[in-house]
Amino acid sequence: MSVVITIDGPAASGKSSIARLVAKRLGYIFVGTGNMYRAFTWAVLHRGMDPDDAAAVIADLPSIVFECPILDGQTHVRLDGHDLAADQLNSDAVNAAVSLIARIPEVRARLVADQRALIRLGSLVMEGRDIGSVVFPDSPYKIYIDASEEVRATRRRAQGQTDNLAERDRMDKARQSSPLVIPDGATIIDNSAITLEEAVNQVLDALRSKKLPDLSAGTANDPNTTAAPPH
Ligand code: DC
Repeated sequence: MSVVITIDGPAASGKSSIARLVAKRLGYIFVGTGNMYRAFTWAVLHRGMDPDDAAAVIADLPSIVFECPILDGQTHVRLDGHDLAADQLNSDAVNAAVSLIARIPEVRARLVADQRALIRLGSLVMEGRDIGSVVFPDSPYKIYIDASEEVRATRRRAQGQTDNLAERDRMDKARQSSPLVIPDGATIIDNSAITLEEAVNQVLDALRSKKLPDLSAGTANDPNTTAAPPH
């Protein structure tokens, strides 16, 4: 039976890197949901729309064709048939607007449906802000990754990005629809002062203590599958 490991946390906390490696160790599919919100944000900006105009964004949603195919064991994002590259998803403009798009309930409803549908394809490690609280609240395998503000800002700067983390966190925690919270039952792992490898091992230890079945053998996930049909 497929299981979902949920990994939530604030911006630049290291959760994507940790989740990707945990998925690899277990042979599960890695799902980065931040990139899904980033893809919609990119589409809105690319169409010349104001990301703060929720009504206009909602009106345009049906015309956005979004897919998240799985390639090499992880989800990718595809808009109107085109794969989006990392520099498009992580541009300064997307960093500045993504929390505006992510607070629109209609955007969230559409992406949450796609995220839940992925379980049909196998066991998942899914990272984001609301995975343990809203997308898969019944999962027994919840992790919350944290790091100090200083460490997170340093990591972003090292990536050469302009990203107002404090403002993004404020908006992500304060929004009405599925705010960032520490989900009930989540194990909190602060990786400010430990290596990536140590953080991954702490996550695996936590999953072991939560009785994740057979940690050594992942499920036979198909590494190349188109997950969500275009809609
Ligand atoms: O993880 P990230 O920094 O790439 O996420 C970008 C934004 O997307 C984040 O500021 C809030 C939003 N997001 C969300 O609202 N819910 C998720 N499950 C994942 C991301």
